Amino acid sequence: MVSDYLSMDSELKIRPKRKLRVTSRQNLTPIIELLSNYAATVKFCTPSLPRCIREELGEMLIKGSVEGSVSCENDIYFGNLSDNTGKYKDGQILLAEAYAVDAAIYGVNGSTGNNISIIKYFATRGKTHLLSSRNIHKSIGIAASEYRIDISFLPINFNDYDELFIPNNAEDIRIELKKHKDNGNPIDVVLLSNPTYEGFSTNIREISDVIKNQNEGIPADKQVILFVDEAWGAHLPFLPKDVQRLPKYSLHNGADINTISVHKQGGGLN
Ligand SMILES: Cc1ncc(COP(=O)(O)O)c(C=O)c1O
Repeated sequence: MVSDYLSMDSELKIRPKRKLRVTSRQNLTPIIELLSNYAATVKFCTPSLPRCIREELGEMLIKGSVEGSVSCENDIYFGNLSDNTGKYKDGQILLAEAYAVDAAIYGVNGSTGNNISIIKYFATRGKTHLLSSRNIHKSIGIAASEYRIDISFLPINFNDYDELFIPNNAEDIRIELKKHKDNGNPIDVVLLSNPTYEGFSTNIREISDVIKNQNEGIPADKQVILFVDEAWGAHLPFLPKDVQRLPKYSLHNGADINTISVHKQGGGLN
């Protein structure tokens, strides 16, 4: 289903490989390069950059003389984010390569905007029953109400002593998927916010195995999708391999779609 959405550009359906490789292509910066042509007249903004960061980014930002947003949509060189053309397309392909995933799409307004887009996409595909733990970000709740998605919540695991929510595990998911299926109102999408705001993480691989089992023999358009709000996990594919007890990146462990905020743990610009 994600690939349906992406089929607007067949070149985005790329690479089944899952191995991260740092190649010289990862030094390419198509968007920054093009922006540098505009540097005499515009500065980056929204959010505006403090001077220290501007200096780090070099000449192109210091040179700027006008403070304000610049819309590059439909620009002859930039291309169009919606149509996936031009420099946006080049950048998205590089992003997918860096993360070793099938495809990547830039979003606007952080994971908030991405969550809303993804939920809207589910709604257009008739995927209207979502199973989720309680710790959803506001954007999910708002989008669910806007696009008439029903959320069934997983049982709450609350640690009274530390006053923290503990993530749901694979067994929780298995029980709830079965319950809703038996009740004649099957789940379309399992949503996990992982890692959590407090830094906990669940075992995505075990959960994706439960979902894969559930999907066996079911036509593709009726299968349960695993969607991970990984706003706090942009760095996960790049952790050293020998560090064992850190969260695993969802898309390398069976998730179908995720959202990340590179401006959080990814150390990038919004
Ligand atoms: C789990 C989760 N999802 C989404 C968001 C929204 O992220 P952004 O600030 O990139 O819009 C946050 C923000 O804190 C978050 O914690």
